[in-house]
Amino acid sequence: MYICLCHGVTDRDIREAAENGVTSMRQLGKELGVGRQCGRCACHAREILRETQKTDYLAMANMLAQPA
Ligand code: FES
Repeated sequence: MYICLCHGVTDRDIREAAENGVTSMRQLGKELGVGRQCGRCACHAREILRETQKTDYLAMANMLAQPA
């Protein structure tokens, strides 16, 4: 789904950027242009970015909970 229409950025693009180390909206703006024009996408983009960070945290917790 398109999140940033001004720059043609999808939710998948944002998740991919997060996997490659993007952790803030500032970095996302530099990498993909998200929120740099009209700004309407900023709230939803931030939500997706936080979602990916939660997912990483859960994956790490699950990995630590598994027996060696
Ligand atoms: S929709 Fe993202 S800057 Fe306009």
